[in-house]
Amino acid sequence: MIVAIQRAKFGAAAHRDEVGVLPTPFPRTLGPNALKYLEEVVQSGLLADMTHRFESAFAEELGVKHCIATPGCTPALAALAAAFPFEPGDEIIVSPITDYGTLQGLIRENYIPVFADTEPGDVNLSARTIEPCITDRTRAVLVVHFTGLVCDMAPINALAAKHNLIVYEDACQAVFSEYQGRLAGTLGFAAGFSFDSEKTMGSDVGGCVVTQDDELAERVRFIGQSRGGVMKPHYGRLHAEPGYAYRMPLCTAAISLAQLEIIREQVVRRDRMIRLLTELLDEIPGVTPLGIPEFVNVYSCWMTGFRIDPSAFRCDAEEFARQLAEAGIPGAGQGKYYLMPEALTFLAENAERKAYPYSTPPASREYRYGPDSCPNAKAFLEHFIRWSTFCEKYTEEHCHLAAEIVAEVAERNRV
Ligand SMILES: Cc1ncc(COP(=O)(O)O)c(C=O)c1O
Repeated sequence: MIVAIQRAKFGAAAHRDEVGVLPTPFPRTLGPNALKYLEEVVQSGLLADMTHRFESAFAEELGVKHCIATPGCTPALAALAAAFPFEPGDEIIVSPITDYGTLQGLIRENYIPVFADTEPGDVNLSARTIEPCITDRTRAVLVVHFTGLVCDMAPINALAAKHNLIVYEDACQAVFSEYQGRLAGTLGFAAGFSFDSEKTMGSDVGGCVVTQDDELAERVRFIGQSRGGVMKPHYGRLHAEPGYAYRMPLCTAAISLAQLEIIREQVVRRDRMIRLLTELLDEIPGVTPLGIPEFVNVYSCWMTGFRIDPSAFRCDAEEFARQLAEAGIPGAGQGKYYLMPEALTFLAENAERKAYPYSTPPASREYRYGPDSCPNAKAFLEHFIRWSTFCEKYTEEHCHLAAEIVAEVAERNRV
């Protein structure tokens, strides 16, 4: 018997039923050259090296040496996890508030994710919350710039240097956000980006790895894209390691290249609008918008949201969000499911029954995962409401309208 599962939806399909009085990202605004580049791919009979063109253009825009285009951020981070010289049972410290895509690769490599808590009232981890998680098995820190808010990277990098750890970034939600004048994705040893159609630089299902390091770039191409295949003279292909075929398709590269030509302008707009919306939401009693720290000088903001003070309202975050969606904010919803130590139920099960790599060895101690692994993150998400339909189409009028809707729902439910 086939058991019907309500499967998760992605890209445009995830937004199909969203309606309201505010814009949604779909239909996406595509760069004026999208058709021209797509035509080049078709006219050339697939000879046009569009993927390489996109890689060079993105690397140049970011000011990095290497961009390796992939079919998404999940594969980008998986290729990185496979490329690093870590062993099963090694620990990677990671943000607890994120998407499964952050973790998929490192779990498949049998590394052990260790969730550092977030700062109280914040969506991101910090050097202060990372430090107690460091052990003799820690090899790396994978930071997530959640919603596009860049983590405070200077203290994180200083701490990592002290312990000889690699720092790398999940910059999926932070395309062209800036930290102290430097772009997200250039603040660690490497980074993964997403160009999924609903993301900031929506280009269908794309992504990439960026790094300054020649050796790592070569290794990502070998293990992440060439399936670990080596050409042996007088023989042919040998597979020295199990690798992946995570290569960005030419048509996605064509769209990504066109999107890259308009993204910087769109990000300027997102930054301006999210700062206005933040100010407006901040005036509503019982509502606390996501804070924008001073070190974030450009906030490309993929998703916006705020926390409600549970003592100020008669309803919980889920009901508050339902009323927001009904009142016209498309896709408004609660955000509890971003708590990875709770949402990845297989992690808790595997750790509990000491399935590999939680057996010893390769693990060196016991691990536990659950809703209470990261109390600050849990407390934050319990009352967090978000909408990922915030996009480059927002005008000042839309920001005022969004804030009016939030204020109206707040008044309706106030104790
Ligand atoms: C923080 C974060 N990392 C990784 C991913 C996975 O990206 P992709 O859909 O491109 O694989 C997502 C997707 O939502 C994300 O939000």
